[in-house]
Amino acid sequence: MKALHYNKKEFKFIECDKPTPIDTQVLIRIVSTSLNAGDYRLVQLNSIPKSGILGNSIAGIVEELGPHVKSLNIGDRVVCDTSDCGFGGLAEYITVDESICVSVPLNVSLLDASACPVASTTALNALRLEKPIKEDDRVLIIGASGGVGTYMVQLAKQAKAHVTSVVSTHNMDQARDLGSDIILNYKKDDITQLKETYDRIIVINGSYPLSFYQSHLKPNGLYVMVGGPIKQFIKNLILCPLYSLGNKKFRILNSKSNISDLQEIIQLISNKKIKPIIEKVYPFDKAIEAYQTFEKGHSKGKIVIQISNESK
Ligand SMILES: NC(=O)c1ccc[n+]([C@@H]2O[C@H](COP(=O)([O-])OP(=O)(O)OC[C@H]3O[C@@H](n4cnc5c(N)ncnc54)[C@H](OP(=O)(O)O)[C@@H]3O)[C@@H](O)[C@H]2O)c1
Repeated sequence: MKALHYNKKEFKFIECDKPTPIDTQVLIRIVSTSLNAGDYRLVQLNSIPKSGILGNSIAGIVEELGPHVKSLNIGDRVVCDTSDCGFGGLAEYITVDESICVSVPLNVSLLDASACPVASTTALNALRLEKPIKEDDRVLIIGASGGVGTYMVQLAKQAKAHVTSVVSTHNMDQARDLGSDIILNYKKDDITQLKETYDRIIVINGSYPLSFYQSHLKPNGLYVMVGGPIKQFIKNLILCPLYSLGNKKFRILNSKSNISDLQEIIQLISNKKIKPIIEKVYPFDKAIEAYQTFEKGHSKGKIVIQISNESK
């Protein structure tokens, strides 16, 4: 099978053996894989999966069953998050345990399904951290335009919260279309002059000081750092416990892959309550170009790599 392999600081397409499913594993023919920050963070941290193959958000078709598989059949359409089991999504085939597979209904395309793991569940976890947001909560989302942000706006609106999205000029229309109540342009508006206070401030990108967030949280409000520059992460690691001494809490999200969250997201998409926003679908042979574009950190929604066709 063909796979995109990372070794000695470079990506190369290689031919390797198609894996064989054992025990409760299934062999999936991958239709598409979406990129996540985890893919470039592993490269930056020099912590490449053993296989040398990145990609943790995959959708495809079950082609072979291990001897003890109970819940899936050949031909099933599935999506999974392989973050906790070695990535491996930038390849034509992968074997995964049946327990991490979520079935994809026929009215959801596998391209859309592959855009869900990690980004959508991270958004869900940030909105539910400690206490789920509720109707009329005022939520400020900074960095509402990428993979995580486009899901977060939609999920916050599903919960009937009042959403203020911070994006740049070219993403303002998208933020409006996704349902944001107020849209601020971080390139033009002076965000630090905001007068409003919030029940929850979620930072997906950007690097305002924690003192700014503190003065814009309501009493008992919650600040959640999802992502942003490494420098900001380190500052948050040191300062969040100190800022949390009063009645406002400051947390760093550590989102874990969770099958029931992914099932919930797929159901919301199937019921047309939310939709994956995909900036571009690249063919597999353009995967390096896709990775290099994504790594720049200016995606408008998700970047998806199509590896095979749904019907062979
Ligand atoms: N905590 C966790 O468990 C967890 C899990 C998954 C991801 N993450 C993190 O979440 C972050 C976002 O991931 P992603 O997949 O959504 O990335 P992405 O798809 O690359 O999106 C990044 C978005 O941020 C916007 N942006 C860049 N600089 C900004 C700024 N100063 N203010 C506001 N927006 C800005 C970009 O738009 P423009 O530059 O065009 O404005 C782009 O749309 C990453 O840092 C990732 O590491 C954390």
